[in-house]
Amino acid sequence: MKVVISRKIPGEAEQMLKAAGHEVVYGTDFAGAEAILTMLTDKIDGGVMDAAGKQLKIIANYAVGFDNIDLEAAKQRNIFVTNTPGGFERSVAEHAVGLMLAVARRIVEADKFVRANEFDRWDPNLFIGTELAGKTLGIVGLGRIGTVMAEIASRAMGMKVLYFCPERKIDCEKEFGLEYCSTLLDLLAKSDVVSLHVPLTPGTKHMIGAKEISAMKKTAILINTARGAVVDELALAKALSEKWIAGAGLDVFEDETRLVTESEKILYSLDNVVLTPHIASATVEARTAMSKTAAENIIAALSGQTPPDLAK
Ligand code: GLV
Ligand code: GLV
Repeated sequence: MKVVISRKIPGEAEQMLKAAGHEVVYGTDFAGAEAILTMLTDKIDGGVMDAAGKQLKIIANYAVGFDNIDLEAAKQRNIFVTNTPGGFERSVAEHAVGLMLAVARRIVEADKFVRANEFDRWDPNLFIGTELAGKTLGIVGLGRIGTVMAEIASRAMGMKVLYFCPERKIDCEKEFGLEYCSTLLDLLAKSDVVSLHVPLTPGTKHMIGAKEISAMKKTAILINTARGAVVDELALAKALSEKWIAGAGLDVFEDETRLVTESEKILYSLDNVVLTPHIASATVEARTAMSKTAAENIIAALSGQTPPDLAK
């Protein structure tokens, strides 16, 4: 059967699909496809599904997030939607830790300073940052990624870890010594670093806005490796420039196209922000796992089974 993959991806998806007897085509012309393997940059709505045709059985998103796909429209058309939930939580959490360290220890600012040839001798006041051991990390969303973040922060870094999540996870609390906060504002007020690990849904859009940022400590750092729109980016940019909080590490943005938005203009001008281009899952390990998962879901759906990783 015909599988269309919207862009070239790392990993073994193509070989696995071909080995299962399917035809693999690259591009965004989905017409006639039984399965499409999509990226988070592909907006898949009912119109795209109809243009693909009635034979379309599965949309396998090459991402853990699936806010780019209209799930309701897929359901109405009996099309499976899957994501790649396992195998890359460690990569994303490690990237979040990297951003946290980079902001706390001003690594990017300091790197620019050295390259600008401004380093001429050791100075007792040069780039004073903050230690993380003993500080409090507030995790918003304790899913797979948030849980690995909690593990690294508490076990490897000696941080106290709080979390806010719709459901309490007593096992994780016990295993990693976490403390549950029943409200987001409570977590924000108590944390030295806040790391976001929720999916983007209508309920989480702009969950961090001016009101929430003003609840944070003046010394706090915000890390976002989830989705840009979970944060009101303009409110964050303004808050950072007015020093409501100390810094931010952002891997995701509200608008990830080439257009430079008003909020991005402000963010680019600030030294207390570390920015990366949505690369938290960009490791050989994670991308290999994502490729395999997406292919397995397609192979299952095209052989008449319910694919294992239904997006929900
Ligand atoms: C990346 O952002 C993903 O959702 O996999
Ligand atoms: C710093 O380099 C020190 O030796 O204290």
